[in-house]
Amino acid sequence: MVVPMLEVVGLHAAYGRIEVLRGVDLAVPKGAVVALLGPNGAGKSTLIKCISGLHTPTSGDLHLAGVHVQDAGADELARLGLCTIPEGRAVFPNLTVEENLRLISYAGVAADAVIDVAFSYFPRLRERRSQLAGTLSGGEQQMLAMSRALASDPALLLLDELSMGLAPLIVDELYETVAGIAASGVSILCIEQFADTALRVADYVAVMSGGRVVATGEPAEIRDSMVDVILGGAA
Ligand SMILES: Nc1ncnc2c1ncn2[C@@H]1O[C@H](COP(=O)(O)OP(=O)(O)OP(=O)(O)O)[C@@H](O)[C@H]1O
Ligand SMILES: [Mg+2]
Repeated sequence: MVVPMLEVVGLHAAYGRIEVLRGVDLAVPKGAVVALLGPNGAGKSTLIKCISGLHTPTSGDLHLAGVHVQDAGADELARLGLCTIPEGRAVFPNLTVEENLRLISYAGVAADAVIDVAFSYFPRLRERRSQLAGTLSGGEQQMLAMSRALASDPALLLLDELSMGLAPLIVDELYETVAGIAASGVSILCIEQFADTALRVADYVAVMSGGRVVATGEPAEIRDSMVDVILGGAA
């Protein structure tokens, strides 16, 4: 049996006394793109926070490439190849594009290599290398955030709403890069609000509702059977 890149088993999590994840089961096969859809408040971001060690689950199991990681810290998760691009723009607004990229190099990759990779994926960042990151457009900031992921050469990439607040054309552009990253062998779990985009790029789709994964399948199956839930039925 092939070990999945990520396996989530019976995961429960709460904020205070309010239970938000109620037994999440999910697997991301090696090299696959899995899109996580579902209405607002379904628990998608909380799941990503649990996987990336930012929120402690109350019970359940997390395995990264077969390694039990429920109690692993951020450092260990990074060593195992996990890279998360959280909700919102993950850049330092008061540093320039180039300074942001140089900062990534502290994670152990040479600065010039980071900058080369970033500028080859996103030529627009080269033109704006001296601009403060906080003054970039939303799409450009997301390109900068994604450069972090590319530089760290991850095994599993978690993306929380890459497309938040962006124009459809930019979203398409970013997802072309996501497809390119996946083609290089990286496994990807992405939360996506635009179901159409997700269904186009993903190998598999998982639908969350009310703190559980209520359906998984290939995009075509999910498109036909889960339209109501995806578009914001009861959470
Ligand atoms: N820090 C927090 N403290 C208390 N409750 C929280 C916290 N973060 C999230 N919640 C609650 O947990 C539930 C799940 O939130 P979560 O952010 O995981 O949903 P989501 O599926 O990512 O939604 P969206 O599509 O709106 O981003 C929501 O009811 C939310 O109000
Ligand atoms: Mg969210």
